[in-house]
Amino acid sequence: LQAEALTKVEEAATLSDLQDIRVAYLGKKGPITEVLRGMGKLSKEERPVIGELANKVRETIANELDAKKEKLEAAGLEKRLEKETLDVTLPGRPVQVGGPHLLTSIVEEIEDLFIGMGFEIKEGPEVETDYYNFEALNLPKGHPARDMQDSFYITEELLMRTHTSPVQARTMGEYKGNKPVKMICPGKVYRRDTDDATHSHQFTQVEGLYVDKNVRMSDLKGVLNRFAKQLFGEDREIRLRPSFFPFTEPSVEMDISCKVCNGEGCSVCKGTGWIEILGGGMVHPRVLEMAGYDPKVYNGFAFGMGPERIAMLKYGVDDIRHFYTNDVRFLQQYHKA
Ligand code: PHE
Repeated sequence: LQAEALTKVEEAATLSDLQDIRVAYLGKKGPITEVLRGMGKLSKEERPVIGELANKVRETIANELDAKKEKLEAAGLEKRLEKETLDVTLPGRPVQVGGPHLLTSIVEEIEDLFIGMGFEIKEGPEVETDYYNFEALNLPKGHPARDMQDSFYITEELLMRTHTSPVQARTMGEYKGNKPVKMICPGKVYRRDTDDATHSHQFTQVEGLYVDKNVRMSDLKGVLNRFAKQLFGEDREIRLRPSFFPFTEPSVEMDISCKVCNGEGCSVCKGTGWIEILGGGMVHPRVLEMAGYDPKVYNGFAFGMGPERIAMLKYGVDDIRHFYTNDVRFLQQYHKA
C-alpha cells in the first residue's frame, strides 16, 4: 500500500492531483483509517504491532505528500516569476506633464514683483454692485464715461465687474480712512465687447493702489519704471502721456519703449517705438472722500493693466483668444522646463 501511494505521489503533476491522493489514502474513508478503525477486533499482541505499522505508513505517505507539495509550489512560483520578468533596462515612455497657464505665470510674475515693493494682494467679487464698480469711483449714474466700459448687467444694481478698481474702493473702505493702503488686485473682468484678436468679453486685470500721506506723482512713476524694467528688461524706458479716467486726476497712460535687439543690432518696433501698456494717475479726491479718507491728509496713486496685453507684448502672442481656447500646443510653448 505504501509503495503504491508513494509511486502515485511521485507521478503527481499538479497540486490538485496531490489533494486527490491525500483523500484517497489518508482520508476518512481511506485504507489506513479503515485499518485503525478495525483495531478493536485484533488480539492484544497484534494491536501495538499493527497500530505502529499503520501510523508509520500514514506518516511516510503524509511526509512524501508534503515534500512533493512544496516542490510543486516552488516550481509554480519559478514559472510565474519567469513569465512576469520586467526588463528594467528598456527605455521608459515619456509622461505628459502639465504646467501653469501662460496667463497664470504672468499674473504670478507681476504679483511677485509688487510684493517685492511692499504691496499686498487683495481679491474681490466678480459680481459687483453698481456702487463699487462705478459710483464709489466717481462714476455716478448717467456719467458719460460709463460708456467707456460696456457692461453686463445682472439687475439694475448688480453687474459683472468691468474692472478690478472696485476692489480698491472696498479695501479703502475696509481700512476705514485711517491706515495707509498699498495693494494690488489681480482678477477677471467682463465687458460687453465682440471677441476678436484684441478684444475679449472676459479678460484679466491687475490694478494697484497706494494711499498714504504725501504720495506724489513721482512715486507712481518710480514704481511703474521699476515694474517695466523688471518685467521687460533693464534697457526699456517708460513715458507717461496725459489721459482721462474719472477716478484719477491727473490721469496718465504709460508707454514702454519697444526696442528689439538681436545679434545684428537693435531695431525699434513698429510705429513710434512706444507701446501703451497701462493707465494710472493720482487718486481723485472724491474717490478718497467716498471711501472715508480725508483728501487734505491722504492722497495716493492708482494704476491698472491687462496681463493678456503684457503677455502678448512680452512673448509676441498675436491673438488674445489663444489664452482662452486652451490649445495645448500653444500653452506648452510657455511651460518652463
Ligand atoms: N480701471 C481702469 C480701466 O479698467 C484702469 C485704471 C486703473 C486707470 C486705475 C487708472 C487707475 O480702464
